[in-house]
Amino acid sequence: MKKILITRKLIKESEEKAIKTFDPILNTNDELYSQSKVIEMSQGCDGILSSLTEKLDKEIIDKLPDSVKIISNFAVGFGNIDLEAAKKKGIVVTNTPEVLSDATAEIGILLILGACRRAAEGIDSAKEGGWKWSADYLIGKQLTGTRLGILGMGRIGQKIARIAKSLGMIIHYHNRSKLSEDKEQGGIYHDNIKSLFSVSDVLSICCPATKETENMINKETVEYFPKGAVITNVARGDIIDDEALIDALSRRKIYAAGLDVYKNEPNLNPGYLKIKTAFILPHLGSATKDTRIAMANLAIDNIDEFFKTGNCKNNVN
Ligand code: GLV
Repeated sequence: MKKILITRKLIKESEEKAIKTFDPILNTNDELYSQSKVIEMSQGCDGILSSLTEKLDKEIIDKLPDSVKIISNFAVGFGNIDLEAAKKKGIVVTNTPEVLSDATAEIGILLILGACRRAAEGIDSAKEGGWKWSADYLIGKQLTGTRLGILGMGRIGQKIARIAKSLGMIIHYHNRSKLSEDKEQGGIYHDNIKSLFSVSDVLSICCPATKETENMINKETVEYFPKGAVITNVARGDIIDDEALIDALSRRKIYAAGLDVYKNEPNLNPGYLKIKTAFILPHLGSATKDTRIAMANLAIDNIDEFFKTGNCKNNVN
């Protein structure tokens, strides 16, 4: 049986599946392993089932034992892994696409609603008590008739578009290429971000973090938005230059933000905590039981498929 290091504790059903499928090293205390601990624990292992909390950069990948042939990431995103370094060392990297699209799109919609309808301020007021209702109390941005820009129209973006359309939003999107009509959800395609941002009353970031998308929201590009736009991010923190967004929020160029992901998670930029209109969540995108089980099962199946066939359909490098 293949020996696999599983870096984080999985839901019980998934750990049972892992025990049936291979000889796993489980993390029963769900300790956050340091990079040196990952290297130490992976000695003699054939593969690693990693999670987004481990940064597997070139330095650590180069130090992994030669016996490690696969890193199966328990996430659809793989920005935590240096794909090139893995490839050079002959390590296949896989991810868990599709199974988390619905759950993540739900959080994407929550971010849009929460930011537009001032949920963060509303929750604070409700808890404090004694708020005074008035005709203009906590007036928010109504979604009906509002333009939603979607940056990255993959499976999650398409699902957000479908739900947002049913809420009366008008969909615009930017993607590497224009989608076929059946996938566009009636959305209007923009072949560049300036054009998309300039019509986005609300933006939903759904694209992967890559060298091209890193800091795509920055000092220059926040100026492309209509005044008072809302920016939401269900993808990865690396896509936003935090200082630029916090500055735009402070001067009300950007009215509100809805964020589930951050650079240097869980240590988000403290500037966000001072912004009343920042509706912030602790990376809950895929956090439902069904989804987490489906993701872990797929991460296990990816390893199994790789060792049985020498290939894996979810190979990303
Ligand atoms: C979650 O953020 C994932 O990439 O799976």
